[in-house]
Amino acid sequence: MDELEKTARALVAEGKGILAADESTGTIKKRLDSIGVESTEETRRAYRDLLFTTDGVEEFISGVILFDETIRQSGAEGTPFPKLLDTKGIIPGIKVDLGAKPLALAPGETITEGLDGLRVRFEEYRGLGARFAKWRGTYSIAADRPSEYCVWTNAHALARYAALCQEAGLVPIVEPEVLMDGTHTLAESAKATGRVLQALYTELHDQRVDFRGTLLKPNMVLSGYEAANRAGVDEVADATLDVLYRHVPAAVPGIVFLSGGQTDEDATAHLNAMNRRGPHPWQLSFSYGRALQAPALKAWVGKPENVEAAQRAFYHRAKLNGAARTGMYAPEMEREAVPA
Ligand code: 13P
Repeated sequence: MDELEKTARALVAEGKGILAADESTGTIKKRLDSIGVESTEETRRAYRDLLFTTDGVEEFISGVILFDETIRQSGAEGTPFPKLLDTKGIIPGIKVDLGAKPLALAPGETITEGLDGLRVRFEEYRGLGARFAKWRGTYSIAADRPSEYCVWTNAHALARYAALCQEAGLVPIVEPEVLMDGTHTLAESAKATGRVLQALYTELHDQRVDFRGTLLKPNMVLSGYEAANRAGVDEVADATLDVLYRHVPAAVPGIVFLSGGQTDEDATAHLNAMNRRGPHPWQLSFSYGRALQAPALKAWVGKPENVEAAQRAFYHRAKLNGAARTGMYAPEMEREAVPA
């Protein structure tokens, strides 16, 4: 447990957070399609290589979540990605869930699959260099959703994963994501998020998971993306903290938010506002996918001559989120020249 707690704490070290680069083959195809690049094993490798070899990004990035294909791939010089990251002082992690599938007899709801054979897969991933893992459950908000059935089956699966993960000597990141699509209010988002977290911590406790060797990756509490009169930065920070204080044990070393389709600037501003209200019982950090990668993806568009510009854009985004870890971000920093 000491080792797990040490790893968990290193992942939320001051000024640092996690890069989620664990898009499944289907999701990364969507990202590459958006910049007109065909998704092949090589373009996926080249894109991840660009991110991982960005000079100095280890100042702000403590760990990277990899996908099954990526953990087996190598940088341009032939160094396997986990080794390449480790050499920079970045901790390699692995997404182990097999995706959210329709939940039987619950139209519109999902259950995350991937528990069968997971003990054996953990052994292999540990051998490949992974020191932490991630499992994501998803929930949507509507009149009768999320149902208790969806909340508790996903909590049970998340806890089964987390127990196996700790048994294998890896830190489980538990990711219950309440999706923010829809017209729901901030209060409805808070209520759903609270129910999901309460069930999750009940199951984690009952299944003997030691909170000290875990990290939580939740959504922030936002108004629905299609809602009228959406809440501003301060309201989001207050509502999110209120739910976390009610439902997340202080023994959890860190909370690493997902960005969940927020703009990169919103994701940074929200994290910053929460940290300005600190100190808190847990470190409040980031584990962003889209909100860290969007500017780099746009700058790259698949062209080797744009790799440097894309790396500068990624470095800058990571730096701003690093500043938000201590409440030192200001929107003016968005316009800082990205140094050549
Ligand atoms: P986003 O930050 O793009 O939501 O991705 C984080 C993630 O890992 C989702 O599972």
